[in-house]
Amino acid sequence: MPTDRRCITTPIYYVNDRPHIGHVYTTTICDVWARFERLLGRDVFFLTGTDEHGQKVEQSAQERGLSPMAFADEISAEFRKTMELFNLTNDEFIRTTDPQHEQQVQSFVKRLMESGDVYLGTFEGWYDAGQEEYWTETKAKEVDYTSPISGKPLERAAQDNYYFKLSAFQNRIEALFAEHPTFVRPEARRNEILGRLREGLLDVPISRTNFTWGIPVPGNEEHVIYVWIDALFNYITALGLGEPDGDRAGDRRDYWPATYQVIGKEILWFHAVIWPALLMALGLPLPHCVYAHSFWISEGKKMSKSLGNFIDLEQLQHYMDTYGLDALRYFLAMQGPLGATDSDFLRAQFHETYTTDLVNTLGNCASRTSAMIGKYCRGFMPADSDAEIDDLDWASFCNEQVAITIAAMERFDLSGAIGAAMTIVRRVDAFINDTAPFKLAKDESNAPLVSAILHRCTEAVRIAACLLEAVIPQKIAELRSAWTLGDPSGDLTTECRWGGCKPGTPIAKVALFPRVDDAGPHLGT
Ligand code: MSP
Repeated sequence: MPTDRRCITTPIYYVNDRPHIGHVYTTTICDVWARFERLLGRDVFFLTGTDEHGQKVEQSAQERGLSPMAFADEISAEFRKTMELFNLTNDEFIRTTDPQHEQQVQSFVKRLMESGDVYLGTFEGWYDAGQEEYWTETKAKEVDYTSPISGKPLERAAQDNYYFKLSAFQNRIEALFAEHPTFVRPEARRNEILGRLREGLLDVPISRTNFTWGIPVPGNEEHVIYVWIDALFNYITALGLGEPDGDRAGDRRDYWPATYQVIGKEILWFHAVIWPALLMALGLPLPHCVYAHSFWISEGKKMSKSLGNFIDLEQLQHYMDTYGLDALRYFLAMQGPLGATDSDFLRAQFHETYTTDLVNTLGNCASRTSAMIGKYCRGFMPADSDAEIDDLDWASFCNEQVAITIAAMERFDLSGAIGAAMTIVRRVDAFINDTAPFKLAKDESNAPLVSAILHRCTEAVRIAACLLEAVIPQKIAELRSAWTLGDPSGDLTTECRWGGCKPGTPIAKVALFPRVDDAGPHLGT
């Protein structure tokens, strides 16, 4: 894979739920990363979509008096609209009902049958109808024959199933984890998987016969392919890896393997164990990293359907209308549950983050600097001088923060990346307060000094802005236009070098983040 290619995926979202903060969160953090990589000049493929088969969708459709397809069309369209609403720049939106996906899944399963990795066997044990998941006797006993997800009793099940021979991959999966310690991140999640791996891998039933809304097993149409197997394949069907050579999507294949497959922690087992085993069985390369983030909870409580406290689209829209989309993106990326612990979505904290970081720090520095340039330098970027104003070498200081940001983004440490960019801005803030150019300007003989101070402030804010562009693209576009910075060059590293904004460049005043009165309680609370 040429090094300038990157691929990032989100889970594909079930259509029997409406879009909510969880879906928006995962897709937004992937979007931040994808944009950042594009700014660095990399050729990025960013994939998201909807997971549309299975018993639950069939039932939800029935309850609504719709065909499963009509139901899936409706909710999938809602997810697609959500991606647009939140300015998410996915390159493809895959649906598991796309004929291209269905055909490729069948061809993969056929290959697995031919290689003996999928075989027909009889299952006797327990079935969790809500999760469409089978449980062995031992496992079912551990949970007292009750679904840990829905709380409903497991059902006794005996049926012929196609199985994926996961047990045959025990050694290879263990070797994968030993040889690639960052295959699953964060570390705490990796350790959980290592623990479960020690219990030994069992073969996985990958077909169902008790309903029909799914992709038929090739050669035995009584069976449909288990929705999880169908769904996992989306990552490679979207890139055309299962298409015959020379087909339409052939040119996308080079994006595989994915750089990051970002998921929530609840679906890690499928992605960290079953998925790589399937790829191994097919002789395909493995993703570089499966990144499992934690969960948003809401005002101290787990979000759940029964509590009805999901931060839904309406609530998100409310934050967007009050604070702006970029403020929401900033909060999600900066305060989200990227690590091993859950994050609480607190209205008060949202307000505080917005006010402290965006209004008082970034917005304030940009507006003070440009207002003073308007007042003391006729609105043009002033020249620097050799004057030693403070003990900081601004060029190397900024260089360091640029390097920290890029390195943090590379390891998907979004708050680390944002933090380094904000370090620059905070330094500018202190610099303005310490040197007080507005006071110096009262004496005309200080003009060269004032120019030098404002030059340094503008350069530093410009560099920080370039680093933050992936997070708050609309606001940075405003700044670019006010400060005549042009469009992003596609070479972020060069753009972030000190001295990029030449003296004489028109610098207009900007007000990026308006102060917001306290936004009031969550809607509906
Ligand atoms: N369809 C499966 C995934 C198949 S991928 C091959 C699925 N869909 S889902 O609609 O339930 O979406 C789950 C994903 O939504 C999680 O993995 C996570 O990315 C996101 N979130 C759902 N609730 C969440 C929170 N409360 N907090 C953060 N993200 C969570 O599972």
